[in-house]
Amino acid sequence: MAGQSTYIYLDNAATTFPKPPQVISAMAGAARLMGGNPGRGGHRLSLRAGRIIHACREEAALMLHMDAPERIIFTKNCTEALNLAISGILSPLPPGKEVICSHGEHNAVMRLLDRYVSSGRIRVKMLLPEDDGVLLPQTLQDALTPDTALVILCHASNVTGVIQPAAEMGNICRRRGIPFVVDAAQTAGVLDVSPDALQADMVAMPGHKGLLGPMGTGLLALAATASPEPLMLGGTGSVSESLRQPEMLPDRYESGTLNLPGLAGLLCGIRFVRRRREEIHQYEVWLNERFAARMAEMRCVRLLAGGNAPRVGITSLVPQQTDPGALADALDQCGVAIRSGLHCAPAIHRWLGTLSSGAARFSFGPFNTRQEVDDAALIVRRLLKR
Ligand code: ALA
Repeated sequence: MAGQSTYIYLDNAATTFPKPPQVISAMAGAARLMGGNPGRGGHRLSLRAGRIIHACREEAALMLHMDAPERIIFTKNCTEALNLAISGILSPLPPGKEVICSHGEHNAVMRLLDRYVSSGRIRVKMLLPEDDGVLLPQTLQDALTPDTALVILCHASNVTGVIQPAAEMGNICRRRGIPFVVDAAQTAGVLDVSPDALQADMVAMPGHKGLLGPMGTGLLALAATASPEPLMLGGTGSVSESLRQPEMLPDRYESGTLNLPGLAGLLCGIRFVRRRREEIHQYEVWLNERFAARMAEMRCVRLLAGGNAPRVGITSLVPQQTDPGALADALDQCGVAIRSGLHCAPAIHRWLGTLSSGAARFSFGPFNTRQEVDDAALIVRRLLKR
């Protein structure tokens, strides 16, 4: 998996880069050759476009071991998929219910929940992990009450990379009949994030991270148990005589024209990762551990990953003598891209005690090389020893 540029890109948790060449050709091909609106006409350009969308849905269903591709709902990103899942459950409920989430949630979840809290509709209970960052399923079990209407779990933190025991937690929810939503933003493409494997009712994921597709793509996988209220209503190209949103899937949730070039690219991204998922995960973990070991040799940094918890390819650190943002800027000057700040995940920073400093995050992708990791580690050491 050779690198392609002299610039060292270590911000794959924000979006993966580069994309496989076939993703880029598919996007260009869709824009050049498939000018019709998918599902909105009977002419050949529309049908051709519709076939690409269908192929992407089938490919995603194959990856997620789902035998009903229509239960793959395309969205513009993981945030939209989470909004659909969460609002789709909460909006029809009477006030007074409780939602349980983890300390690892992204603002895609927290800001939405806060809107429901602010209007007095729900209460939120946040689960806190053990010292190594991993939640105990028993902590969830103890937190459930008869009012619990929804449990939301960030599968792996975008700050520490720590992976949570989603299936065990999902199993607890399933036994109690409580909907379980998983944010697989950092795990889709490297772990099995199928609703079956995670015991989840809904799994949200971006297309542009581990699935190696373009920005502007994401999806929500609906288990057979899930039927959230739609987030958007509008034209679907079907049942147009009715003022009611169609009940059939995926139309119920996909109003408006889909991102054809994006989904053409995502199809190729999923094809690329589907058979290589475990290999990619092992490779990224190996790169990450190599980098983290180099960082651990320095006394002047605090690594934000505890113990031996299983992790995806993410390492965040706080340098003692400089601001993480200044380190990120200096690294950019030296040709290394990382992300500093709070990573839209303030709750985990609060738990880590890094809410005021933020952290410098290094995140690895399938096209990073060992040489890039070693070079980046050397540059960080040089910058911090100045
Ligand atoms: N949520 C993305 C990140 O972690 C954008 O950087």
